[in-house]
Amino acid sequence: PLIKFITVNGETREVNAESGSNLMQVALDNGIDEILGECGGSCSCATCHCYIGDDWLSKTGKPDDIEQEMLECALEPAVNSRLSCQVNISDELDGMVVHLPAAQY
Ligand code: FES
Repeated sequence: PLIKFITVNGETREVNAESGSNLMQVALDNGIDEILGECGGSCSCATCHCYIGDDWLSKTGKPDDIEQEMLECALEPAVNSRLSCQVNISDELDGMVVHLPAAQY
């Protein structure tokens, strides 16, 4: 599936993601510098924070309790915040818009 990352400056990067991967890995593999992923995807650092485009929230689902708690450590969390390592890529997400934060901390 195609994923569109949009920076705070409005720059768009479209990348091809592999189903079965997670959004943090996709960002790292494609040199999206705004996503750090310091804990390697174990939901314990909150440096893979991103905002899911409103139209895609129903498809990505909601963060579980552990992710929700970690999100509170993120810089400027919002209702559409997710930890990208916890978003699984599936074909259903083709065309998904992901807004990148200005900074992770
Ligand atoms: Fe650490 Fe996602 S990579 S919480």
